[in-house]
Amino acid sequence: MSDKIAYSRHGDIAVLRIQNPPVNALSQAVRQGLSDGMARAEADDGVRAVLILGDGRAFIAGADITEFGKPPMEPNLPDLCTRIEASPLLVVASMHGVSLGGGLEVALCAHYRIAQPSARVGLPEVHLGILPGAGGTQRLPRLTGAEKAVEAITTGRHIKAPEALEMGIVDRVEEGDPEAVGLAYTQELLDQNAPRRSVSEMPAAEGIDWDATYDAVLKKGRGQISPATAVRAVQAASELPFAQGILRERELFMELMNTDQRKGMIHAFFNERAVSNLPELKGVEPRALQSIGVIGGGTMGAGIATAALLSGFGVVLIEMKDEFAATARDRIAGNLQGALKRGKINQAKYDALTTQTLTVSTNYDSLSDVDLVIEAVFEDMSVKREVFGKLDAACKSGCVLASNTSYLDVNEIAACTSRPADVIGLHFFSPAHVMKLLEVVVADQTAPDVVATGFALGKALGKVSVRAGVCDGFIGNRILATYRTAADHMVLDGATPYQIDKALTDFGFAMGPFAVADLAGLDIGWMTRKRKAPDRHPQERVPTYIDRLCEQGHFGQKTGEGYYVYEKGKRGGTPNPKIADLIAAEQQELGITPRPFTDQEIVRRYMCAMVNEAAKVVGEGIARRPLDVDMTLLFGYGFPRYWGGPMKWADIQGLPAVLADIESYAKEDAWFWEPAPLLKQLASEGRTFGDLNKEPLK
Ligand code: CAA
Repeated sequence: MSDKIAYSRHGDIAVLRIQNPPVNALSQAVRQGLSDGMARAEADDGVRAVLILGDGRAFIAGADITEFGKPPMEPNLPDLCTRIEASPLLVVASMHGVSLGGGLEVALCAHYRIAQPSARVGLPEVHLGILPGAGGTQRLPRLTGAEKAVEAITTGRHIKAPEALEMGIVDRVEEGDPEAVGLAYTQELLDQNAPRRSVSEMPAAEGIDWDATYDAVLKKGRGQISPATAVRAVQAASELPFAQGILRERELFMELMNTDQRKGMIHAFFNERAVSNLPELKGVEPRALQSIGVIGGGTMGAGIATAALLSGFGVVLIEMKDEFAATARDRIAGNLQGALKRGKINQAKYDALTTQTLTVSTNYDSLSDVDLVIEAVFEDMSVKREVFGKLDAACKSGCVLASNTSYLDVNEIAACTSRPADVIGLHFFSPAHVMKLLEVVVADQTAPDVVATGFALGKALGKVSVRAGVCDGFIGNRILATYRTAADHMVLDGATPYQIDKALTDFGFAMGPFAVADLAGLDIGWMTRKRKAPDRHPQERVPTYIDRLCEQGHFGQKTGEGYYVYEKGKRGGTPNPKIADLIAAEQQELGITPRPFTDQEIVRRYMCAMVNEAAKVVGEGIARRPLDVDMTLLFGYGFPRYWGGPMKWADIQGLPAVLADIESYAKEDAWFWEPAPLLKQLASEGRTFGDLNKEPLK
């Protein structure tokens, strides 16, 4: 028998204990071990029941995702599930920690299920671009009804044991050692002569309006196909006999298994974890973190302070004047009110955070005890210099001094202090208490334990932290500037901002670039254009039509007018009629005859610009690995998760094809579309960005 399953005997009951750390994923050895364990129990004289449970922190976290895309290995999971359910012995699952995906499917094949109160169950396969493929879509609705099964499977949410009991997924919830409570429950069932109870033999769930449900789920998924496909599988459970339903589930599962979306989602799953795992930080201890200082109580500073408070840090926020301090306090209280409303904190916690854990002051001396301080003041080097000079004087030795700058040179900021090794960039994304991305910007002299502290803070705040080197805009904003420019060029050449936004949201972006610009504030781009004007290359094409709007004081959503016009109280805007005239005027001035663009060309140019700049960012070592770029775009810029990120997208398209398009665009504008050396190198060597993730550039 596989060493992944421990077999033991307790009177009439055989126990199969799964031992596959860290989360008991259903690898081939586990599947084989469970199958052998069932056979052994059935052949073991006097055994009347089998209890299945997991060792360590979980029952089973699901199929072993590392096996996806590899040739299938026997026994497969659906066969194992069928085999468990068909056993002549009474089978019981005792669940603790998580029972997810294939893990819940195994449990659904047991004849009875008992769970710890803290256990969580779920079928999260749609988040990996697939659907439950071992009977989950056929068995769950037989227990919960179709509507609840559709909700659980299409959201993939984790369901806590008490709710799972209410839904009929588990039969009992009981606190205690999973083996002890499992054995007691199994014995009780044996004593009562409880029948073997196969979910597959239960009546099918009553149907719902399947087409309407499918359409609603498809729309909600913004182009993600796995949840909607899962609806069809649940439909089969209610319309077909079990054996045929299982075949339909398998067919739909295999369809999804072969999609690019599945590859993108799995890339995202693993790299969301890998991104914060820096080989150079192995063995480097972060500095102790208990209290955080924040300089500036604007939207960003208040968001950072909120995130820190919600994660259990004491916060000292510094503002320039008493009235600003009061406004900052109100902003933070407003953010925390949101957390209170969503049930993330209770009233007592809210009161404690706003009155005790948060200090707002106008005096830098209040920072004397903090372990790390994050500056979030106006984006201007002279202002930053002044702040860092004060921090150098006020903060204790060993305190990490961080800047939340989104563009400026962290080396120059570090040089304003007597302790450049303690200085780092921590670039949050607005709203900082909501957005998942944190760019950890490492300057030339930043000490390794300061970098480790940046990542430790990110982890404590629940962020996805990405290491970035110093350059204008670091990883994310530098790449953004380039693909935004590609969109601007398309506008000058004949596409409308609205067609571009629509083409890109259809591709899967949460928002199009022009709607994003309105949300962020058009004044930001205007300021950046002015800042960069002196260093502009003579061949650079920079549209100025939108500056005319800014000159009139229209900055997007906050002023009610930008690319779109926003009516008070309404979500979203309608195209601003002034924009077409402004564009036409600039086209005329530049002698451009507008031409039509297909949505496909829009997406291709936008993506090629993104990939080309990203390849430069990796080639220059600003991002160490392509996966760092992918996670930055996914968690900070609304990139569709099911593409895995721009580098994964490029690998899926094939790098030679992406390069060929870039070279063809370069015939119109050789300066903007200059191919990245790294892209040329990989394409010529027949390698991919994925290869570089395994073996980063030296
Ligand atoms: N297969 C392989 N490895 C897995 C895994 C899985 N199903 N689930 C987690 N792991 C690995 C992680 O990659 C991570 O590895 P490293 O330590 O090397 O980075 C390790 O287990 C611990 O995971 P986390 O860091 O995520 O730990 P956590 O406590 O924060 O979360 C978890 C644990 C809730 C189980 C989370 O890992 C998770 O959600 N896993 C995925 C669960 C899932 O999607 N299951 C369905 C799989 S598909 C399926 O089962 C359908 C089918 O029939 C084919």
